[in-house]
Amino acid sequence: MATDRSLLLQQIETVVGKVGLLRADQLAGRSAGIWSGSALKALALVRPASTAEVSAVMKLCHAARQVVVPAGGMTGLAGGHESCDADIVLSSERLNRIESLDTHSRCMTVQAGVILQTVQQAADAAGLLFALDLGARASCTIGGNIATNAGGVRVLRFGMMREQVLGLEVVLADGSIVSSMFSVLKNNAGYDLRQMFVGSEGTLGIVTRAILRLHEAPLAVETALLAVPSWKQVMALLRYFDAALPGALAAYEVLWRDFYRLNTGPHSSVDAPLATEAPYYVLLDVFISDSEHGRAKLETLLTALLERGDISDGALGSSERERARFWQIRENFEPEQRRYDKIYGYDVSLPLEAMETYVDEVRSRLLQCFADAELFAYGHIGDGNLHFSIYPGAGRERDVVDDIVYQPLQALHGSVSAEHGIGIEKKAYLGYTRSAGEIELMRKTRRMMDPHNILNPGKIFDY
Ligand code: LAC
Ligand code: ZN
Repeated sequence: MATDRSLLLQQIETVVGKVGLLRADQLAGRSAGIWSGSALKALALVRPASTAEVSAVMKLCHAARQVVVPAGGMTGLAGGHESCDADIVLSSERLNRIESLDTHSRCMTVQAGVILQTVQQAADAAGLLFALDLGARASCTIGGNIATNAGGVRVLRFGMMREQVLGLEVVLADGSIVSSMFSVLKNNAGYDLRQMFVGSEGTLGIVTRAILRLHEAPLAVETALLAVPSWKQVMALLRYFDAALPGALAAYEVLWRDFYRLNTGPHSSVDAPLATEAPYYVLLDVFISDSEHGRAKLETLLTALLERGDISDGALGSSERERARFWQIRENFEPEQRRYDKIYGYDVSLPLEAMETYVDEVRSRLLQCFADAELFAYGHIGDGNLHFSIYPGAGRERDVVDDIVYQPLQALHGSVSAEHGIGIEKKAYLGYTRSAGEIELMRKTRRMMDPHNILNPGKIFDY
């Protein structure tokens, strides 16, 4: 190691202490993320315990032109947290305190490294709801959720992470602290700089603290699984439920037939709750807040839909256990991992009217290229957000698949990233979804805020 780097590490150690600095030779057992089979690469892992420490570390790194890769729970799916041997990985793992919860203003002040599920549980214990929810809830951090503007399964009702952030504190590349720790819902005093950091994937600043918005918790949640005969009906049912249960539809997920089969088949620990074959299965959550929106109403709606042939089968979760079982079909990726040596995940959005044709086209183009490929479609269809898991066939890489998935989105005005961000995985396709003018303004902003290109370089777009 060059002596200037060891001097830098010594200086950082004086800021964060021995416990706050793990050098490369102390990183055994640390992985590069929950989806990655490889070991974490870094010059050192730095674990500050306060905003002041993050700021001091960044001042040193700025002066030394040292690359810093911010890391939360490392559950991201676009490679935004990827690092190499010469990088400092700045982890939020010791920034893990819930500072306060205000039941009147309905907000919670947290440090960036608090795990999403911990926030959800703290809100729940106070009779409130933190609305963001996603499969990686037990590992992902609030700071990572903010940096990537995470989505998940409740966006339809509550919006993305962006909408859950009332206040924000960040440390910039040069170590300066920008604080906007307001808990008020309305704040139209000039530019809303907070939002610039949300979804910036650690390239503009490092999130250290936030004030999160909370909502009233529902009295109960009901979950239904429906077999749906056509895409037209999938689209119609979304509006039907939203209109019949105003404000109560809290998730509207769709599983295409192959996905449902895989996740209820021999590689899965969950049996199919519905034996009926259908091209689409809808999984929905309804928040029950009063008797008018109660379970009985949902039962009546399902019976009517069955009679009209708008669904070919349906089940209402009869217990928490059964609800969890329905959701496991959607959120458990172990069947894929057991069945395939590698499978690529995708995250796009497009108008619902174009989605059926788009999926069919992607599947047929894929099979034209690779006869043994397999495609599984699912997603947060209430948000127009579609996911694919694609097995391209033995020995094949993802480039060709990327083109097949992303190319048609330009004409459809869809997005190459609905909720996972760009990271490094989708850099080549950013121009499909953002105009040249937008990308240029992003680049200028980044150069102005990080003149030495030390904050998560190489992510989203080239500097
Ligand atoms: C999900 C991840 C892939 O929705 O975003 O399961
Ligand atoms: Zn998703």
